[in-house]
Amino acid sequence: MCGIVGYLGKKNTKEILLEGLKELEYRGYDSAGIAILQENGFNSFKAVGKLVNLEEKTKDFITDTFAAGIGHTRWATHGKPTELNAHPHLGQSSYVVHNGIIENYAKLKKELMREGVVFLSQTDTEVIVHQFEKNLKSSSDAFEAFAKTVKELEGAFAILLVTKDEKNTIFFAKQGSPMLVGINSENEKYFASSDTPLIGHCTEVNYFEDGEYGYVTSDEIVIVDKIGNNRQPVFSKLSQNKLSAQKDGYRFFMEKEIYEQSTVIADTLMGRLGSEEVLFDELDAELFHGINEIKLCACGTSYHSALSATYLFERYSKIKTSVEIASEFRYRNPIMSKDTLFIVISQSGETADTLETLKMAKEAGLKTLVICNVDNSSMVRLADASILTRAGIEKGVASTKAFATQIAVFWMLSLYVAKLRNSLDANEIAKQITLLREVPASLKVTDSMHEKIKRLSKRYLHGHGFFFIGRDIFFPLALEGALKLKEISYLHAEGYPSGEMKHGPIALADPELFTIALLPQHMLYEKSKSNVEELSARDSTICAISPIEFDKADDFIQISTYSDYMLEFFEMMIVLQLLSLEISVRLGNDVDMPRNLAKSVTVE
Ligand code: F6R
Repeated sequence: MCGIVGYLGKKNTKEILLEGLKELEYRGYDSAGIAILQENGFNSFKAVGKLVNLEEKTKDFITDTFAAGIGHTRWATHGKPTELNAHPHLGQSSYVVHNGIIENYAKLKKELMREGVVFLSQTDTEVIVHQFEKNLKSSSDAFEAFAKTVKELEGAFAILLVTKDEKNTIFFAKQGSPMLVGINSENEKYFASSDTPLIGHCTEVNYFEDGEYGYVTSDEIVIVDKIGNNRQPVFSKLSQNKLSAQKDGYRFFMEKEIYEQSTVIADTLMGRLGSEEVLFDELDAELFHGINEIKLCACGTSYHSALSATYLFERYSKIKTSVEIASEFRYRNPIMSKDTLFIVISQSGETADTLETLKMAKEAGLKTLVICNVDNSSMVRLADASILTRAGIEKGVASTKAFATQIAVFWMLSLYVAKLRNSLDANEIAKQITLLREVPASLKVTDSMHEKIKRLSKRYLHGHGFFFIGRDIFFPLALEGALKLKEISYLHAEGYPSGEMKHGPIALADPELFTIALLPQHMLYEKSKSNVEELSARDSTICAISPIEFDKADDFIQISTYSDYMLEFFEMMIVLQLLSLEISVRLGNDVDMPRNLAKSVTVE
């Protein structure tokens, strides 16, 4: 996702900002920019695409005097990845960079436009700089105007702002998005949205807390806390290990990404949940006119989320839905009728098989939609419409947060379609929206849960196979749990519908057959329980995952009690991801780069 850097000092500001942005590249971005305020005024540069494009644009620009500089890598959320939408954003005499989403931007923008302010971009960020300059007119100084502005913003943000009205100063604010400031013995100040750009430049850093804002000059760091009191910076030593900084202290990227899911899902939901309806600004309702069927197509983990979506679309949108594995669909001369909406799902947007099916659907004249994590990817460019999952870059080869965000998008989309088709009454849609708001909480990893799974994992390092079983939407979750285990532990695992075991696989049951049983309270609990009892009676080793105690299990992982099966789904997903991770760690495997696998499969 987006990255921020800032620098105040006498060194080569341009180089420092560009180097800092390079350190944030791993987070993913689609455009970048810098703005530098020196004695003779501002210079600003922006470029779409990789940082080399920005380097090329700035190659003749030299900074050799004291300067205040800010820089940004942008991962598009509001508005396409264009130069105009790239940060920093300019007002009359100030520039701003921002991570996060300003939820009340539309209201602020409307008011500013009414007052004659002209907006250049489609971003939510641009309102910050105009609102600041509006407040400047009625304030005694720039800091007062900045403080007023911060209080008017709703949503999540990390902000840096520089203004000609207060040269030699960088203003900052943090609410929900990370931000830190670093110092060294040369009186320089460095800002960033994560540790890595500061390594090698700073010895000590102060992490800002939510609700804090303030400013820095060469001589001081002024921090106002969320209740309005000034607080002294609290410095801690900066680790000098870049790889570990990128992993935010986690052992593996996969682990970091599992823990991140609560936050990234909040990004996925942000701005899309009204009180009574789901809002997808990026969709035109026209896309669904004349549509009587949905066909989903994907590979691997994305196929599992597509399979999950079939349950949601049929249950809530009451529309006939089918799902296909892309590599199969390509070569089986499928019948495609024009009243079918063709949806492809892909983390990368580049998977060759999925991309090909999208081309086939387009050629057959079907309307197409892509659910994707990477803006400007081949699929996003090709499809008629796209919904971005906003998971941020996923580094672990085994997909985790991309899956979680895909499921959240499908849940929202099924309600969006339900409203268009009048298939669910308004109260039920409102109730589902309330449940969606609870998803980030259901995805929080607790120490006790992780510890329990870590301990338990030592019993599952051998055996002649694993069966992950579940019913309804918990069947695709079982498939996904089995895939995660296979990918990083190299143990054989299969996902199976619980009710199907008795039709063959139960013949394998013995103590060395490990069954990971998903037993949600709110989806066919009694039926799933009977299926597990059948396996237990045949001496299969059972690890049950459920909110309800289950005494026929050899191991039991208790999840929280929720009012709906979808929240159980998300917490069970976390349990399965952690279980695979811990088994893989115990087996000494390379968790982030499992053998024989690639992150983006661009060949058939
Ligand atoms: C599994 C995994 C793969 C991908 C599959 C499709 O952890 O990552 O199974 O899901 O290769 O990739 P995308 O979603 O990029 O099309």
